[in-house]
Amino acid sequence: MCGIVGYVGRSEAGPILLDGLRRLEYRGYDSAGVAIMDGDRVETRKCAGRIAELGKLMTEKPPVGTYGISHTRWATHGKPTDQNAHPHFDGSGKLALVHNGVIENYQALKEDLLREGEHIFASETDTEVLAHLIGSLYDASAPANGYVPPQNEKSRLVAAVRAALQQVIGTYGIALVHRDIPDFIVGARRGSPLVLGVGKEENFLASDVSAIVAYTRDAVYLNDFDVVAVERDKFEISSVAGEGGNYEVSKVEFTDEDIKKGDYPHYMLKEIFEQAGSVRDAMRGRLSTDECTAKLGGLDMTAAQLRDVGRIVLTGCGTALHAAMIGEYILEQLAGIPTEVEFASEFRHRNTPMTRDTLVFAISQSGETADTLGALRESRRKGYRTLGICNNVASTIARESDGGVYMHAGPEIGVAATKSFTSQVTILLLIGLLLGRMRHLSTSEGSHIIGALEALPDQIEQTLKLSDEIRGIARKYAASPGMLFFGRQFNFPIGLEAALKVKEITYLFSEGHPSAELKHGIIALVRPELPSVFITPDDAVFSKNLNNMEQVKARKGPIIAVTSGACGDRLRGIANDVITIPSAPAFVTPILSVIPLQLLAYHLAVELGRDVDKPRNLAKSVTVE
Ligand code: G6P
Repeated sequence: MCGIVGYVGRSEAGPILLDGLRRLEYRGYDSAGVAIMDGDRVETRKCAGRIAELGKLMTEKPPVGTYGISHTRWATHGKPTDQNAHPHFDGSGKLALVHNGVIENYQALKEDLLREGEHIFASETDTEVLAHLIGSLYDASAPANGYVPPQNEKSRLVAAVRAALQQVIGTYGIALVHRDIPDFIVGARRGSPLVLGVGKEENFLASDVSAIVAYTRDAVYLNDFDVVAVERDKFEISSVAGEGGNYEVSKVEFTDEDIKKGDYPHYMLKEIFEQAGSVRDAMRGRLSTDECTAKLGGLDMTAAQLRDVGRIVLTGCGTALHAAMIGEYILEQLAGIPTEVEFASEFRHRNTPMTRDTLVFAISQSGETADTLGALRESRRKGYRTLGICNNVASTIARESDGGVYMHAGPEIGVAATKSFTSQVTILLLIGLLLGRMRHLSTSEGSHIIGALEALPDQIEQTLKLSDEIRGIARKYAASPGMLFFGRQFNFPIGLEAALKVKEITYLFSEGHPSAELKHGIIALVRPELPSVFITPDDAVFSKNLNNMEQVKARKGPIIAVTSGACGDRLRGIANDVITIPSAPAFVTPILSVIPLQLLAYHLAVELGRDVDKPRNLAKSVTVE
């Protein structure tokens, strides 16, 4: 959801900024731009389209200078045009600003500026209004005449940023430079992430450490309302209100190597194939075979507190919400605790009746999704213990929750989430095991669950071997107008997740439903051109699914079945294509059954010539409401 990179140092800023933007392209790719300062000249290159387009502009006419800011955009206010691309300038043309987030009161601020004086806006963006506001506050603070020492100009600019941000309603991660103040960048954040990379005689600002990890692994994760003044060899953090800021320099837990695509044609395929390892990492050190339970110290709750949990709410968006839906089945079955799933975007705005013994989990790969963060804050505001299940260790959700469980899945770059989903479900299984063992689950049941979890990485490896077979199926159905997905119980949310993957990266119409809902309306869609995918492993509801498949077959709808064990034989003659995954207990099966469907979506998208890692209109981390 927009990516920002800033650099101040001794090297040429252009290549560093462009490289950083490429690594942040997953956050948005509607348009991109840079502003690099060279003496008293501001070199700007910006255009609609991908970073590659910006790269061409910068190769044709390389901007020179050792400090600057840059941006890749996911459009909110204003179309993705050259004019609307960031950076934006203030009225003087000396101050350049990049912004991630939404300035909700930008219209009112714009009207005030227009009333005050000569402000001409070149774009439709909220960002340009902020640039003008900061610029005019800075200019207004200039002494009437006389020499201004550079140090004073720096503090004047920081003061103008603070004063402007005090007027802003909305969210922002910003970076700005001013032509008159060499080697100086100001950044600030509220609601949109911003990290300071601390180097040797060079410093960086970025929306995400992946943009700068090739240059430094020392990072300061800025807090909301932090304002940072960055120079080549120092930085100073304060708050929007003008107080001194607290910070710590942390080590980034992954390296530049971890975010390379390697031999894979796409990040999505790489991440699908990483799942045996990422699921193993989600469990690492967290299973106690002696006590037949899970150990989750990050929850930061005593045994008594865990025993007192009477109700659980799981909240998230997109793929994380689908993991939550499986979590509902898991927690109710393993721990017997009433569990509900709430769309984060709805939960935060409605008055959900909650009991005092309710435990809330905010599930988010990025830990930055605005709706999930809003739900977390609302829940904490009302006094409920709120825990995070996040992948991004330093994320806002991870930092603002009362405790939680990290996924340790490693960086996920493909916009369509894959490995984070299986890690989320694995963690929900660990939570179910822990809470269940504190209630009614026996040691032998606990040990059975641990056995099923420990078997998973090998079973995932086996499942991944189906990739070539699935590519063949994808080719066969690539001309279909869409796809329907059906499953029951633990596999109903897998139908939703599979439909989401197909939608996101193939742009084909797709829907997921509980199998039994077929007859309540969806069956009207069934026809020979539209394939139905049934996720129907060898479980207690297999024969029920079989009935639903017969209903589709009777109407000449093609059927693809994902099944397990010996059930494959029972499907011959009914399903046109059968994909067989390893047998596993019902509660862990979704971790296996989702994999062929991730692969199906992937191969379909490749077959259709889609941009798998950067599907149209999407962004990986959605930091606006
Ligand atoms: C966006 C992405 C989805 C993702 C969702 C939640 O919509 O396109 O792939 O599932 O955000 O992201 P989170 O980082 O909170 O898990």
